[in-house]
Amino acid sequence: MRGSRILFGSLLLSSALFGQLTLDNVANPHGSEDCGLCHTESSDATAANLKKDVCTQCHSAAAINALIHPIDGVNTHSERISIPSSFKLESDGSLGCLTCHQVACKVNRSNRAFLRGGPYRKELDFCYNCHSKKNYSKMNPHIQVLEDGSVNESTCLQCHVKQPKKDDHPTIANEMQLDMAATCNKCHSLHSHEQNHQGKNIELSKKATVKRFKQTQQRFGVTLPLSEDNLIQCNTCHYTHNRGTLAVDQVVYEGDGENQRFLRLSKENLCYACHDL
Ligand code: HEC
Ligand code: HEC
Ligand code: HEC
Ligand code: HEC
Ligand code: HEC
Ligand code: HEC
Ligand code: HEC
Ligand code: HEC
Repeated sequence: MRGSRILFGSLLLSSALFGQLTLDNVANPHGSEDCGLCHTESSDATAANLKKDVCTQCHSAAAINALIHPIDGVNTHSERISIPSSFKLESDGSLGCLTCHQVACKVNRSNRAFLRGGPYRKELDFCYNCHSKKNYSKMNPHIQVLEDGSVNESTCLQCHVKQPKKDDHPTIANEMQLDMAATCNKCHSLHSHEQNHQGKNIELSKKATVKRFKQTQQRFGVTLPLSEDNLIQCNTCHYTHNRGTLAVDQVVYEGDGENQRFLRLSKENLCYACHDL
């Protein structure tokens, strides 16, 4: 999947800005018989003989920092954080790859990303190893309209670069569109559920998919926004404003109203928005 991403010239721009998580042309060692890819002793691999900086031989730390979780200059002694002792820090006390990732040799489908202590039922449960639930909820930028109907402007800058107003022109949104995944992944590091879609250029996909995508928007009178270069991104499927944040809601509230997952169409209809099954 990562390979196919760089086929599209337009994506080189965002790759240059945010980097690829995995470098080009490296072997996939996870689950491989070649223990020497990560351990210095290939015939007697143990936790003690892991290569130095083993993960960053093939994965870009800068991209991890931008797309998955801040690792540069984070304060591990922050009062808001409490790191369990099984989450080993680097010798200088900073967050390292092995703080959050465990034994990367045994592939376990239910813990694809080798998360320490996994598998987890919800990804947030992993986050709560170090973050407190209470502090995390305080950062929730999805509660934008207060009970009296007024707009809580303090939430907007969690995603926007400049303070937007209700009926600002859509171009204001483009300021974060290039790095949409980074905007959301600041707080959601999910990469598994949209593997088939994230970064796919809809104009280059099957004709039936493109046709259906256009028809759906007309049928429901709703926009499913793509990036400037036609890529599917988080906000193609998710509508992260509340009813009343914008002058015109770009979402169809089906069935019992507000949907928990902020989907633009109900989960039942969302897939048929582009797929004619
Ligand atoms: C992608 C890199 C990678 C490869 C390839 C790899 N390992 Fe590991 N291995 C790790 C990491 C990471 C740990 C965990 C270190 C930690 O948590 O301190 C580990 C830990 C171990 C441990 C000690 C923990 C345990 O599970 O009991 C053993 C034994 C081990 N590896 C054996 C192997 C063998 C055998 C192979 C080859 C079949 C292999 N490894 C290939 C990354 C790798
Ligand atoms: C020899 C190169 C190499 C090393 C060393 C390596 N990886 Fe990987 N890793 C890869 C490749 C290649 C992939 C597949 C990338 C893809 O499909 O986009 C991958 C995939 C992954 C994935 C995603 C797994 C999935 O199924 O989607 C995680 C998580 C990961 N690596 C973490 C680590 C960690 C943590 C370490 C250090 C212990 C490590 N890797 C060391 C090359 C490497
Ligand atoms: C604070 C915890 C944390 C740290 C530190 C961390 N990661 Fe991760 N990593 C995660 C989480 C959470 C995911 C997403 C898991 C998922 O998609 O379900 C992830 C995913 C990944 C993936 C797979 C991404 C994908 O989309 O396929 C790779 C590769 C990876 N990490 C490598 C690294 C490397 C290399 C380092 C060190 C430079 C590192 N991680 C440091 C938590 C961390
Ligand atoms: C190993 C412990 C650990 C885990 C697990 C972890 N984090 Fe963090 N996280 C930290 C530390 C340490 C900081 C830096 C806090 C500071 O500088 O005050 C941080 C900072 C952050 C920040 C920057 C904003 C802030 O609070 O300073 C966000 C957002 C964040 N983490 C989200 C997540 C998410 C989402 C997950 C789960 C996918 C996660 N974290 C898992 C340790 C962790
Ligand atoms: C969770 C992230 C997030 C937060 C928080 C957020 N926005 Fe947005 N905003 C977006 C995204 C993504 C777009 C791009 C269009 C879309 O997805 O609907 C956007 C687009 C817009 C637009 C352009 C309208 C259009 O139709 O494209 C306006 C106006 C706007 N936001 C206002 C606000 C205001 C006011 C707030 C605070 C009350 C806010 N936003 C909070 C993510 C966010
Ligand atoms: C500043 C942090 C932050 C940012 C940025 C952010 N979110 Fe969230 N998001 C949260 C919090 C906190 C919750 C509530 C989690 C809970 O209550 O379990 C949440 C909940 C969600 C949920 C519902 C998940 C569930 O488990 O019910 C979705 C879907 C979601 N966010 C999508 C997005 C998308 C898409 C973006 C980018 C446009 C985004 N978020 C940006 C913090 C953030
Ligand atoms: C915005 C349009 C869009 C939406 C919404 C959408 N898909 Fe897709 N999906 C695509 C595109 C584009 C591809 C790439 C393959 C292609 O050309 O059709 C794809 C590929 C897939 C694939 C991989 C198989 C293949 O044909 O390559 C699966 C499985 C899939 N989608 C399932 C779903 C499910 C389940 C949902 C609902 C949660 C969904 N899709 C929603 C556009 C969409
Ligand atoms: C093709 C459509 C599609 C795309 C693209 C997409 N999502 Fe989702 N997302 C969904 C659907 C459908 C669900 C509901 C899954 C369920 O309820 O089982 C979901 C669920 C979620 C949840 C809640 C998951 C949980 O475990 O509670 C979060 C958070 C989220 N998405 C964030 C994101 C982010 C961030 C991106 C971009 C990196 C993204 N999504 C891209 C369709 C999509």
